[in-house]
Amino acid sequence: MDWRTFETNIQNSREMMPQLREKPTILVVLGSGLFEVVKDWEEVQRIGFEEIPHHPRSGVMGHPGWYEIRLVGKIPVVFSLGRVHLYEGYTPREVVYGLTLWAKLGVKGVVLTNAAGGIGEYEVGSVVALTDHINHQGTSPLVGCPSPQRFVPMVGAYDKSTWEYLSRQGFPTGVYAGVLGPQYESPAEIKALSFMGATVVGMSMVQEAIMARYLGLRLCGLSVVTNRAAGLGEHTPEHHHVLQTAKNAAKRIRDALEMVIHLWEEK
Ligand code: HPA
Repeated sequence: MDWRTFETNIQNSREMMPQLREKPTILVVLGSGLFEVVKDWEEVQRIGFEEIPHHPRSGVMGHPGWYEIRLVGKIPVVFSLGRVHLYEGYTPREVVYGLTLWAKLGVKGVVLTNAAGGIGEYEVGSVVALTDHINHQGTSPLVGCPSPQRFVPMVGAYDKSTWEYLSRQGFPTGVYAGVLGPQYESPAEIKALSFMGATVVGMSMVQEAIMARYLGLRLCGLSVVTNRAAGLGEHTPEHHHVLQTAKNAAKRIRDALEMVIHLWEEK
């Protein structure tokens, strides 16, 4: 999808989108095994990925693929239950399609959650507030974007007041390395990522983070440490363990989300 087609499709989707009963200002993308966190918040509307023209469909276990608008307190928040990934064969622009659409519909801040392997000394099940990332996916959603805005700075991409606040509430902080996948890393790759400064590793999020900054959105990243990264623990990472551990960490993620949503709503 070239840039012009992307923009036309987004405009098209916007016009063909089901009527919104509430207009969300915050988007939360829920990663593998994390979508149960929404169940205590009142649901206002559900929109399937397939109801939105041009929207990519999700096909990974643990990623059902729809949006739910829910009230967190009185705040309307749109949750993406699932996302699409580069490793499924989607292009960077397909990966950021939903986020771009919601930004055009009035979203001002995005929380990107994900399951990740722990490189740093985190307990499995921890929720890590991200301070930065390393894009190790070798691509960007802005490749081919003709606007001078494509040279978007990534300094301070993850909103400092947000991760500092979470850190004061007891959440550990860290740096996310985004890899392509779908294979898990080799132990040598984890050693290299560790030298580079990464403390968690996963196969999503960095494309969305780059696009969020291009669109001027406030950004928070949260990783659930579902396993010790390859070569560091006793077990090799496995997808069903990742999903189960993410499910078990739902309460911690829910607490973090509630804090961030209320913090952002104050300003
Ligand atoms: N590596 C990459 N992605 C992951 C991991 C991992 O160890 N755990 C969960 N997602």
